[in-house]
Amino acid sequence: MTVMKATNVHWHEGDITREDRHRLMGQKGVTIWFTGLSGSGKSTVAVALESTLYERGKLAYRLDGDNIRLGINKNLGFSAEDRTENIRRIGEIAKLFVDSGTIALSSFISPYREDRDKVRQLHNEAGVDFIEVFVDCSLEEAEKRDPKGLYKKARAGEIKNFTGIDDPYEAPENPEIHLHTDQMTLDEEVAIIIHYLESNGFLAGR
Ligand code: ADX
Repeated sequence: MTVMKATNVHWHEGDITREDRHRLMGQKGVTIWFTGLSGSGKSTVAVALESTLYERGKLAYRLDGDNIRLGINKNLGFSAEDRTENIRRIGEIAKLFVDSGTIALSSFISPYREDRDKVRQLHNEAGVDFIEVFVDCSLEEAEKRDPKGLYKKARAGEIKNFTGIDDPYEAPENPEIHLHTDQMTLDEEVAIIIHYLESNGFLAGR
């Protein structure tokens, strides 16, 4: 548990509500949380989804493992403790984006179920929506793709604690959406998510 150090701090409400922002933007903010092995396709699906939403006049913003680790989380590595803190911070950031009315596309391995469940709980408590997308791909296929050459290095012992090799990945038990990126096309995957967003009212508006 992260201990709260600051005392005497309180949430300061503005005059404009979340609903006002939704009306303004013609969409309802939501976090779409992609989880899966490195190389499973999380970022690829997020990039394609962002473009499709953009073409429909909907604003999404991608929060991506490598990008975030170059900036706000540059002081974190890949120990279990650091991965947990990585996900906690992203969860808080995603929640703020959703509150703003944005569709937050969050792509992190996020290997621990408990950490993802905490992000879900954080969203629930704030009254904002959270959609977990399991970007499912066999280790064999992810390793075959190896877009960054990291599995090869991990197998050679040059990277320690690499997810799927010598570090665990805990698959979601009840994700809202389950993609099989080793069997589906990218277009099919995007269509499944768009359909989910449409049928749950997230894209309603102007
Ligand atoms: S997470 O486990 O904390 O959610 P995150 O998604 O931010 O991980 O970062 C994963 C990315 O960091 C991978 O796609 C890969 O490019 C890189 N990486 C470097 N070292 C490791 C490692 N030991 N395990 C997993 N990914 C690593």
